[in-house]
Amino acid sequence: MFTLETKIDVNSEEFRKNKEEYLKLLSEFKRITAENTRGGPEKAVQLHKQRGKLLARERIDKLIDPNTPFLELSPLAALNVMDNEHPSAGIITGIGVIHGKETLIIANDATVKGGTYIKETIKKHLRAQEIAMENHLPCVYMVDSGGVFLPEQANVFADRDHFGRFFYNQAKLSSMGIPQIAIVMGSCTAGGAYVPAMSDETIIIKKQGTIFLGGPPLVKAATGEVVTPEELGGAEVHTAISGVADHLAENDVHAIQICRNIFQNLEKKPRQVLDIAPIEEPLYDPEELYGIAPVDLKKMVDPREVIMRLVDGSKFHEFKERYGRTLVTGFARIMGFPVGIIANNGVLFSESALKGTHFIELCTSRKIPLLFLQNITGFIVGKDFERKGIAKDGAKLVHAVANANVPKFTVIFGGSFGAGNYGMAGRAYNPKLLFMWPNSKISVMGGMQAAGVLVQVKQDQYAAKGKEMPQEEADALRKSIIDKYDQEGSAYFSTSRMWDDGIIDPADTRNVIAMGISMSLNRIFDDQKYGVFRM
Ligand code: COA
Repeated sequence: MFTLETKIDVNSEEFRKNKEEYLKLLSEFKRITAENTRGGPEKAVQLHKQRGKLLARERIDKLIDPNTPFLELSPLAALNVMDNEHPSAGIITGIGVIHGKETLIIANDATVKGGTYIKETIKKHLRAQEIAMENHLPCVYMVDSGGVFLPEQANVFADRDHFGRFFYNQAKLSSMGIPQIAIVMGSCTAGGAYVPAMSDETIIIKKQGTIFLGGPPLVKAATGEVVTPEELGGAEVHTAISGVADHLAENDVHAIQICRNIFQNLEKKPRQVLDIAPIEEPLYDPEELYGIAPVDLKKMVDPREVIMRLVDGSKFHEFKERYGRTLVTGFARIMGFPVGIIANNGVLFSESALKGTHFIELCTSRKIPLLFLQNITGFIVGKDFERKGIAKDGAKLVHAVANANVPKFTVIFGGSFGAGNYGMAGRAYNPKLLFMWPNSKISVMGGMQAAGVLVQVKQDQYAAKGKEMPQEEADALRKSIIDKYDQEGSAYFSTSRMWDDGIIDPADTRNVIAMGISMSLNRIFDDQKYGVFRM
């Protein structure tokens, strides 16, 4: 392997200015994250504690092995949605290790509107189950939820990817031999009752957890029967009479301990074997990425400068270095795991698309996970390029990306625009995990370009009627589109809607991707099959 050498002077004015701007973005990111991971209003948090309950993130902390990291997913889901009253969408999801087993954890945050589900909560819960299914990770559900957020029922109840899908997924996951464990730590009302009921094994906490299809008010309204929550569906009832739950716990800590004990008895499954090397730190400090990552997306960044700050020993064996140079491809290691890296270095031409396709074929035949580093304005446009068949060459890359059987990971470190997003394993291409850096932007095209297209279309409409578009109207349209794209292109807009799995600090990228690769090895890679490549 060759060791990459930087061409960047970290003492230069350009580096210093970029870093200064980047640190502002980073502190904004940390501030927003801190504000949105505190749970619900202070009053609700205090009430929760007074009831002797641990907060959702404290529960996860006690569930996972001591001194191991928790890879939290989409902590900024539902950011700026519904007056920001549902921080983290009222649910915490992520990957942690329990008795050495990588596990998908889903924990309701009862301090956020009683742990109820809005559209974003549903999407986050389903995304977590999808990750469990794709990577064969056992699931723990720490349930403490009032079920559907009733005013939002039209957005959460009836459609395929709504509330009902949780239980469908649990049945499917269980049938795949993927353990489903529930800890009832508060309410499980109505549909929510199916989370513990559909689990392989369920723990319930005395005088705290309840499971019922209809709560006391509904029972009274429906039948006139007056009953307390405890009599209707408390821990005593479900562990001794109904059999809906299997283990009785005294409190949060005890319930978590029982759950950890369950993990000791789970089957040990074979993992995908990779050629793993001893870990080496990069030669260049990952924090130098702050001086390099494009704060201004017009600035070109040689992706090798990013790669050398992510990979072991800054070693990179570049493939086809002299061909299709707007795409950089090559082999490296991250925390000892082998990876094939595909990184943008400008607009995608036919040659770059063909090179990417060839490289993906290499990685899939050698069973090497793929890391896509996106900073892409799209595929090249224009008469000559269309005549040379850019569409069919781009399609080959998209084909290869879609069908690649090895785990794919995507990090957007700059712009992600147009079909470049697809060719570079955007969300629609099922990367195992997709993260954005705080400076990154994502939209169908840049705001200026979109404004240019729309103004042109309007001008053509005027011209067809023999008129001219007034300049003020063109200016107003241009401004409104640029403003809209500015707002909707931000990483925060994306992460709020879970177009990604979270925004990360560039310096954490290496750790996050390594955790992702490790998680993905719980599933043996499928056989490789490609469809028809248009030649
Ligand atoms: N839909 C919308 N909002 C709900 C809700 C629901 N299903 N359940 C609770 N909330 C809201 C409350 O209005 C309150 O909002 P506020 O903070 O703006 O006042 C907040 O969540 C907390 O509820 P509260 O009852 O004060 O908290 P609690 O901790 O004492 O009780 C529950 C939480 C979930 C046990 C209780 O609210 C409850 O039983 N809710 C109804 C559950 C239900 O029947 N769901 C059926 C839907 S499938």
